[in-house]
Amino acid sequence: MSPLHVTRTLPEDATDAALRDDVRAGLTVMPKSLPPKWFYDARGSELFEQITELPEYYPTRAEREILIARSGEIAAAGGARTLVELGSGSSEKTRYLIDALTSLETYVPVDVSESALVQAGEALIAQRPGLDVHALIADFTAPLALPTTPGPRLVAFLGGTIGNLLPAERAAFLTSVRSLLAPGDGLLLGTDLVKDEGVLVRAYDDAAGVTAAFNKNVLAVVNRELGADFDPAAFDHVALWDAGREWIEMRLRSRRAQTVKVPALDLVVDFAAGEELRTEVSAKFRREGVTRELAEAGLELTHWWTDPEGRFALSLSVAR
Ligand code: AVJ
Repeated sequence: MSPLHVTRTLPEDATDAALRDDVRAGLTVMPKSLPPKWFYDARGSELFEQITELPEYYPTRAEREILIARSGEIAAAGGARTLVELGSGSSEKTRYLIDALTSLETYVPVDVSESALVQAGEALIAQRPGLDVHALIADFTAPLALPTTPGPRLVAFLGGTIGNLLPAERAAFLTSVRSLLAPGDGLLLGTDLVKDEGVLVRAYDDAAGVTAAFNKNVLAVVNRELGADFDPAAFDHVALWDAGREWIEMRLRSRRAQTVKVPALDLVVDFAAGEELRTEVSAKFRREGVTRELAEAGLELTHWWTDPEGRFALSLSVAR
């Protein structure tokens, strides 16, 4: 059986420095905001897994349906010998792709979570002995250095996570993905689609309150990592649809006027009663917009697959 290679491109303390920068920047401006990447400590990742099983949260199921129905076509389109997966997490849905990619020699999962990478990498090697798994501990929003692997390459970015980037970040991200590809290499991208407002809002404000707990978990992360004294019970979970920008926003609304201390940053933060802290943007897409954003990064959309209900799309594009 081939070994599992793990490469760390992220210094052990990089996360800490980035969190400090983000918390200082986000809590000292108006309106206040924190980037969504800080949801995902062990507890947050567990809550996200629970979200994917909620009746209201359709994107994971819709994307899995598409992968099951289309992995043969996806594989036939590229003949990839290397699959790079950005934000691979548990690599649960990737199994379908790997099974279909009969020419695949190397799988490069990229994630900030070393434990998720090792667990998923070992499971995949067991499923496909002989597959070279080269896990990369890295933040995919920063420029990536990939190991030398055989082409053609297919880069997969699933889950609709591209929607968590703001438009300018998205453009920079797609350009950096393009730089990992040779002409003819592919990008498989998962995007949640614009749909009825009620369906969208319920997906981010479920009846069981799991998404509310996930949202408030970012406060627990800041408390633990930076010694802050956020009281999660003093904030309400808010999910709203911004029809102009076509994105869902998650916010935490302060139930009362309160002061929060962040000792590691020597910072004291005032919240007015009703003041909102933005914790996530989750953009929803249309085919025309995806086609244009890809084209602007030098990627030509060649395939567009949706689930039968048209809720979610997987697109395949090729580097020009
Ligand atoms: C990480 C993109 C899959 O934006 O839908 C789920 C994260 N946030 N519920 C999304 C999330 C609230 C999720 N993705």
